[in-house]
Amino acid sequence: MTIKENQNSNSANKERVVIFDTTLRDGEQSPGASMTLEEKLKVASLLDEMGVDIIEAGFPIASNGDFEAVTEISKIVKNSVVCGLARASNNDIDRAADALVDAKQSRIHTFLATSPLHMKYKLQMEPEQVLEKVVSSVTRARKYTDNVEWSAEDGTRTEHDFLCRCVEAAIKAGATTINIPDTVGYTMPEEYIALLEMLRDRVPGADSVIFSTHCHNDLGMAVANSLAGAMAGARQIECTINGLGERAGNAALEEVVMAINTRADILPFATNVNPEYLTRASKLVAAVAAFPVQYNKAIVGKNAFAHESGIHQDGMLKNAETYEIMTPESVGLKETSLVMGKHSGRAAFADKLKNLGYDLGDNAFQDAFQRFKELGDKKKHIYDDDIVALVDDGLATSNERIRFLSLRVVAGSDGPSQATLSLEIDGETGETTATGDGPVDASFNAIKTLFAHTATLELYQVHAVTSGTDAQAEVSVRLEEEGKLVTGRGAHTDTLVASVRAYVSALNKLLVKREKTKPVSLIAS
Ligand code: KIV
Ligand code: ZN
Repeated sequence: MTIKENQNSNSANKERVVIFDTTLRDGEQSPGASMTLEEKLKVASLLDEMGVDIIEAGFPIASNGDFEAVTEISKIVKNSVVCGLARASNNDIDRAADALVDAKQSRIHTFLATSPLHMKYKLQMEPEQVLEKVVSSVTRARKYTDNVEWSAEDGTRTEHDFLCRCVEAAIKAGATTINIPDTVGYTMPEEYIALLEMLRDRVPGADSVIFSTHCHNDLGMAVANSLAGAMAGARQIECTINGLGERAGNAALEEVVMAINTRADILPFATNVNPEYLTRASKLVAAVAAFPVQYNKAIVGKNAFAHESGIHQDGMLKNAETYEIMTPESVGLKETSLVMGKHSGRAAFADKLKNLGYDLGDNAFQDAFQRFKELGDKKKHIYDDDIVALVDDGLATSNERIRFLSLRVVAGSDGPSQATLSLEIDGETGETTATGDGPVDASFNAIKTLFAHTATLELYQVHAVTSGTDAQAEVSVRLEEEGKLVTGRGAHTDTLVASVRAYVSALNKLLVKREKTKPVSLIAS
């Protein structure tokens, strides 16, 4: 059977599995993966466009930023259901409902921990109190919408009889989706199948609701467990782009979708997601969350379709199916093509952006075009990946209070390095010269002189966008301040300029987090 035949097999018997994306909620909870409102809107509209059924847009009570994100996402999403998370309290649920008012279709997702460990140590509640709260929270959520999801946090470590009672209570109170999270990524496929089958067998009313999986990846089993859940009757899978999420992350959306598409012969399911968007979604999320994708990551890693060994290359040339179980095109991976150089015009550039899936407004387009021209002056060949890095870098740096202007560095084997940096901060230009142990240290010291702050550098990562010594460097910088983690990204043919841009981008994100920072006299005299 060819790949195509395999993908089309059983088409008549496929059952629809709802794809619930929680990149903007569970994914964003990942340390350092915070996104600005503008970035969240970009991700939400792409998820909407690619056919994700439900977008969990945030946890509205968690912060004003989360509330605003859910509110604004609710306004722009056209097809997907927009979902807001809420703990089992009236305030949480009311806040989620407020944030969702403008959504065409909305869902309130309320959760409560049910495992002995969580009830005793985290909630400090007796099981009977938990049960009461399940009922009161679902009842409260139903006042606002008839689309209510209830989750048994740490469900896979919950005692079975008690879990059955909670699920039954949630269904009776009006929940329409019942989620059984593997919160700590502990379960195994067979065990998860048995748990879901047990619930579907024993709980009265189980056949009137949709069961859902929400699997974390602590033992690398998230996708396997999610698919096992579907085999056991779950018809919703919660997942994130690139598997972003708490600790080791969640089930990766792209892996779930491609497993279902590629193994249609034994997985009789269908999703609404257009797989040709997967590469683009992965790149966008990696860029805005400044969370690089590991090279050998399934489906969207740089090496996912690369064939290095001679034997494999030989096989590939004779018949691609010898070593490829899906085609790169099926996940939207296009041959990286040469873009014209610095002589390319506006129309060609606009066309390229369209092909790469960008729809920029006038200002963003002008800015991207100017930076494309600048890049053309420095780099002979500009590839698709260069354009993606350039545009994503621009998206991350619009509407920011601190702007990079220029950098001059003196470095070498003798003596300290010296960086002369110029930044614009809230419209004022400042310049300083600082020294350091190497050019990166000197450049970052110059930023600290111009903009005093106490944040510490937690991560500094560089990678080349394409090959060659004139390749653009893509730098990620993670800063920590009073427990808040932010990550910024910068791209440039000069690694030091990319480094400063990344640092500045992280600082800008920190400013958004520190709502009380005064906009005046930021430049040290
Ligand atoms: O992992 C978990 O249990 C969660 C719930 C809030 C669904 O993220
Ligand atoms: Zn989770």
